[in-house]
Amino acid sequence: MFILPNNVTIIEVGPRDGLQNEKKQVHEQDKLAFIGALQGAGITEMELTSFVSPKWVPQMADAKAIVEKTQRIGRQFVLAPNAKGAELALAAGAQSVAVFVGVSNSFNQKNINRSTDDSMQALEPVIANLKAKGIFVRACISTAFYCPYEGKIDPTAVIALCKRFVAMGADELSVADTIGMANPQESYALFKTLKEELPDVYLTAHFHDTRKMAMANIFAALQAGVDRFDTSAGGLGGCPFAPGATGNVATEDVVHMLDTLGIETGVDVKKVCQAVGVIAPHVSRPIDTGMYRLFENDQL
Ligand code: HMG
Ligand code: MG
Repeated sequence: MFILPNNVTIIEVGPRDGLQNEKKQVHEQDKLAFIGALQGAGITEMELTSFVSPKWVPQMADAKAIVEKTQRIGRQFVLAPNAKGAELALAAGAQSVAVFVGVSNSFNQKNINRSTDDSMQALEPVIANLKAKGIFVRACISTAFYCPYEGKIDPTAVIALCKRFVAMGADELSVADTIGMANPQESYALFKTLKEELPDVYLTAHFHDTRKMAMANIFAALQAGVDRFDTSAGGLGGCPFAPGATGNVATEDVVHMLDTLGIETGVDVKKVCQAVGVIAPHVSRPIDTGMYRLFENDQL
């Protein structure tokens, strides 16, 4: 039968990945209410926001206020693409910082205006400085399966990048299917190898659900020994620089599946749906996840 973990950690990325692509500015108070409701649902690890250029991603321009006004519960990440982002994150009091790089050069260039190698070189002292200050460092690896510009990505390039991040001091790798193209065999194979070759790092899977393959990919990753998943309440999300990327796999649907499998997450599906209800009026995309639909129809 299947080999499954007893516990899984959900890393909620809705306030960051979920909202970064929204064209209309979501008000700071509404973001904070969403974050508070997610914390109330039992979420203990969350990406709050990004310290990126407000010219590139205007939606994240309120990053400082979001960090300062969020109650400290568990591990709260802020994204930082470079030294300036890390500096701003530290100044706001962030304790956990997520750096991000694409395996694919073309994607990295569009996303952070540098080649992958230039980004890695620039991040080396940034990570060293964060580690020296006792900060938990998460490294997000985009286009780990497919790239919107280069197509299929060679897993050996992903593994090499992951090893480089670990050598640089990263505590966690969040390995992403940015445009939701991976299949369960690819998911299993990559995560199994990463688990074997990098057994001492926190390993997290980040699936966008563009082709509705994310749940199958999560089940495959569970078999490979992954017990940390990035998910987004309401299935919100997408990277502005990855054409074709839609939302992340929905927190409420993943937690429901894990609940039915007897895997503990500490997260309450109904309360996640209530949090989705808090943000739903402020986002442009219709929310159509399985569990939220049941919740709206009073069937949960
Ligand atoms: P650049 O234009 O090359 O930056 O952009 P620069 O270093 O030349 O600086 C230009 C200006 O930006 C300067 O200001 C800098 O001070 C400022 P000016 O002198 O013109 O007034 N600047 C900054 N301001 C605020 N925060 C900063 C920062 N850095 C420079 N950190 C840059 C390079 C990286 C800044 C830009 O490309 C950028 O902000 N990109 C962010 C892209 C992004 O947020 N993408 C989405 C997140 S990643 C994602 O979603 C994928 C993930 O979910 C996993 C997956 O699904 O694949 C994680
Ligand atoms: Mg993403």
